[in-house]
Amino acid sequence: MKYLIGVDLGTSATKTIIMDQEGRIAASASRSYPLYEPANGWAEQDPHDWRDAVMATIREVVCKAGVPAEDVAGIGLSGQMHGLVMLDEDAQVLSRSIIWCDARAKKQEDEMFRILPAEAWMEHTGNPPLAGWTAAKLLWVRENRPDLYAKCRHILLPKDYVRYELTGVFATDVSDASGMQMLDVKNRCWSKEVLKKLDVDEEMLAKVYESADITGYLRPKIAAELGLTTRTAVAAGGSDNACAALGTGVVQEGQAFTTIGTSAVVYTHLDHYTQIPGGGLHMCCCAVPGCWHTMGGPQSAGLSVEWFKNGFCQDLTAQAKAEGRSFYDLMNELAEKIPVGSDKLIYLPFLMGERTPHLQADYRGAFLGLNTVHTKAHMLRAIMEGIVYCLADCNELLRDQGVRVRTMRVCGGGSRSPLWRRMMADLYECDVRTLCQEEGPAYGGAVLAGAGTNVFSSVQDACSRFIKEKDRTLLNSEEAEIYKRYHRIYKRMYESLLDSYLELAKVD
Ligand code: XUL
Repeated sequence: MKYLIGVDLGTSATKTIIMDQEGRIAASASRSYPLYEPANGWAEQDPHDWRDAVMATIREVVCKAGVPAEDVAGIGLSGQMHGLVMLDEDAQVLSRSIIWCDARAKKQEDEMFRILPAEAWMEHTGNPPLAGWTAAKLLWVRENRPDLYAKCRHILLPKDYVRYELTGVFATDVSDASGMQMLDVKNRCWSKEVLKKLDVDEEMLAKVYESADITGYLRPKIAAELGLTTRTAVAAGGSDNACAALGTGVVQEGQAFTTIGTSAVVYTHLDHYTQIPGGGLHMCCCAVPGCWHTMGGPQSAGLSVEWFKNGFCQDLTAQAKAEGRSFYDLMNELAEKIPVGSDKLIYLPFLMGERTPHLQADYRGAFLGLNTVHTKAHMLRAIMEGIVYCLADCNELLRDQGVRVRTMRVCGGGSRSPLWRRMMADLYECDVRTLCQEEGPAYGGAVLAGAGTNVFSSVQDACSRFIKEKDRTLLNSEEAEIYKRYHRIYKRMYESLLDSYLELAKVD
């Protein structure tokens, strides 16, 4: 029996699984790490924390599963996207990574529009410049930390830094590299034109592979530490969203999924490349060779819940602890008792700025309609609803492009909430399906390792054999009508607040 390891390098934690060649999970492990927010809109993590978490969780699953080292054929890495990791000439980490939800590079985003017109960015990279994507972060470092930039020899994404630590190889994959703003997404290679305009040497970037390709093997010292062998292959892997697509079996046109984790994303598989006018949805290569996907959604989804929980819900956290259950179960229970629309309370989930469907890093969060009748439970429900209003906006954009989503599957921590699934069914106006496999990106990583090592004949074949639907949440047309009224007001909120947000951003 062959075994495969899938690693999901997330924002709150790394989650790792080991599965057998029949797709059954033999063991799983997770390790969390801090998120640093040194200023308003900044978000950083320490790459060493990622490396340590990946090492510890792989060691743990290998040990728990108790399988012979030589039977572990491969490892597939799924990673949080867009983060900037810089290494010096000795391949040492130069600083904390500026991660995906960091909004500091707004000025650099504006500059990128001056370097090349918007249409040229769309033509070369499939997406408009975005403060949260890697290129803008790199320009920020060049301008604000020239000392670091001068020493930088390698520019890597989070999971690709971990790959380097595991294998000694500088490599990336097409899906994750799509979010760097330097990849020619249509042709699945670095864009020479863009690199020239940005004055970035291609030598600093990793070699690009399709997601199921094998990029290298474990270094002897690492293999020994992990209880594995130097014949354990490491597949190119993919972005967390591209890997979640495999983990939810979204590998054909017309299929889509929504994930609610730290961020939330509605993702649609495409067999062909297309340009989304205005870039209101991201356009990326997917982990299925020769295919693409769109995605969009609020950056601050679970992040909004975490923010509210940590700042204002000490009582509920203590109650959940005393009752021996999770805060999220309590949140669902309380929110469930509040009427649709949170009794006239609407939340804009833009804590860290936004990029889909509105490209505006200077947006911030807001509650509209606060009244003395409102309690924490109203605010929690409004946060949940605001996240789904944003996801529904992204889904509508896709509909405008003539892409019909036939099935909507769900994954990520948020999908465990029946209430959140009901909100999705009502606002997407389609049924929402849960899966027997809940591991999403880690499962997708393991599938890629299996396809790369020929344990599986193809990514699609493994997905169709292993991924099974569990239950369906149906649209409730009465509630959907009420949501429509609130959703219309939500849409007007970001339009009418834009000038105030821009002015707020300028206050020193
Ligand atoms: C997508 C995105 C997030 C991160 C979070 O563009 O930035 O989904 O990948 O993990």
